[in-house]
Amino acid sequence: MAEVVIVSSPEDAGTLVAAEIVRLVGRDPQAVLGLATGSTPLPVYRALRKQAAGVDLSGVRGFALDEYVGIAPEHPESYASVIRREVVEPLGLDPKLVHVPDGDPERIAVSGEEYERAIEAAGGVDLQILGIGTDGHLGFNEPGSSFASRTRVKTLTAQTRRDNARFFPSLDDVPRHCITQGLGTILRARHLVLLAFGAGKAAAVAGAVEGPLTASLPASAIQLHPHATVVVDEEAASQLRMAEYYRYAWENKPAGQGL
Ligand code: F6R
Repeated sequence: MAEVVIVSSPEDAGTLVAAEIVRLVGRDPQAVLGLATGSTPLPVYRALRKQAAGVDLSGVRGFALDEYVGIAPEHPESYASVIRREVVEPLGLDPKLVHVPDGDPERIAVSGEEYERAIEAAGGVDLQILGIGTDGHLGFNEPGSSFASRTRVKTLTAQTRRDNARFFPSLDDVPRHCITQGLGTILRARHLVLLAFGAGKAAAVAGAVEGPLTASLPASAIQLHPHATVVVDEEAASQLRMAEYYRYAWENKPAGQGL
């Protein structure tokens, strides 16, 4: 099962996960990070900025999870822009080494497979940062997505479009389609780190960690992974039946293991 770490704030989660990334880059300066967008990973990127001061991140490689289809990469809310603004520039990564799926509708038939090949050529993702949708999506793998899926186009659910409307002038401006790493792609990363904050994520987190393995809740796919870490605040943890055990296991974790 996933290791569940219950922290008191998103900032504490960011500090914990950033420390793990710094350890990883210390072992391998060319480590490959899987990069989520949205609000959830921002505390990680912010903490990393502080913790990596003085650490050379210029060799680190990155692959974003997903991109909207049908908005230009220059659009401020394209994930290409978000990754540049929140990750590449503040952390001093080399933009040539950081990739985002190509959401150009003209290229969509081939861009998924190209992305898969690029991840393989990089040797795979070492640490994949993940958020979770209120509908249980992972990346933009909406309910019903195959656990074996690869990078491809998906149609966003009405719930996801409503959730993401806060980034756009109106609901109508939220794209209807995306290109996302598949669940099968995500499961090939060597370490999954899923973060979730707030009561709105509690049901999805409980389903992902303790519910049945089902494509109806795509994030339950993490149960198939040999090294998955779930970092949640108290509110996001509030529907976990085994919360006391997770706290006990974390408090008694053998020293020096990291996440
Ligand atoms: C983003 C992504 C999504 C988000 C999820 C949660 O790259 O793949 O799965 O992680 O929609 O979004 P936030 O963090 O904004 O609540």
